[in-house]
Amino acid sequence: MPNTGPRMMKSKVKLYIYDIGTGTGDWASDFAEQHPEAKVIGTDVSPIQTELMVANTEFLFEDCLEFWSFSPVSVEYIHMSWLFGSIDDWCALYKQAFACLKPGGYLESHEASPLIRLKGCDSEVSSASAIHQWGNLFVEAGRRSQRSFTVVEDGLQAKAMKEAGFVDIQDETLENPIGTWPQESEKRLIGQYSKLAMEEDLQGTINYVAHSVGWSWEETLVLSSQVRNELQCPENKPYFLQRIVWGRKPSDSV
Ligand SMILES: C[S@@+](CC[C@H](N)C(=O)[O-])C[C@H]1O[C@@H](n2cnc3c(N)ncnc32)[C@H](O)[C@@H]1O
Repeated sequence: MPNTGPRMMKSKVKLYIYDIGTGTGDWASDFAEQHPEAKVIGTDVSPIQTELMVANTEFLFEDCLEFWSFSPVSVEYIHMSWLFGSIDDWCALYKQAFACLKPGGYLESHEASPLIRLKGCDSEVSSASAIHQWGNLFVEAGRRSQRSFTVVEDGLQAKAMKEAGFVDIQDETLENPIGTWPQESEKRLIGQYSKLAMEEDLQGTINYVAHSVGWSWEETLVLSSQVRNELQCPENKPYFLQRIVWGRKPSDSV
């Protein structure tokens, strides 16, 4: 996924950066490497972070839905990405970020849509197709668990940031290709990575939500192989939406 963090922070002064739900910690490590003047702290509930840590990174076991252990007004920049399906209250999450940020500091949130679209023929994504079913499965799982997967479709990031008190809220929506169908070389590369990431564990991804919609292992096996086939189909030009939203804590707030 695109690493857009550095464009937000050009200062050379000592910076404190938090990456909430850091996953493997790749983003935190890349940012720390590019910004030796910064201290980057990643948090997660899964201990899957890289052991090859960059010196100015630190990883903490912390649930972002609970009270954050960071001091108020302690950080210049907070980054979060791909937390859709894990968050029950986006405003409460962003309010915690607001409290930790120094006045003038930024929150940047990247979220993706689980709906796979086909370039040039969105209206023709048949409801019988596996690709369509895939998206529906996540939408339904999010509805049942009250942890929405339709963060992008519902514009939740901007709404919740505004409600949490952020100002100068801006956004950018990317169409991330899946596969090597784009002509442009950078998009082709992104598509190659997206497809590889999806195919790596299609069934595991479905299994992540299968229990909440009552699907059997066999059903997930069938859907994952059908999705795999549809992704290979040369006429299909699949992509998904990713939205980046960033906002500033007002300079006169504490
Ligand atoms: C899809 S991964 C994204 C990881 C990383 N942010 C990225 O963009 O590559 C979602 C991550 O959020 C973490 N996560 C989910 N719920 C969380 C919570 N309540 N508190 C902290 N981390 C959480 C998961 O453990 C997982 O590592």
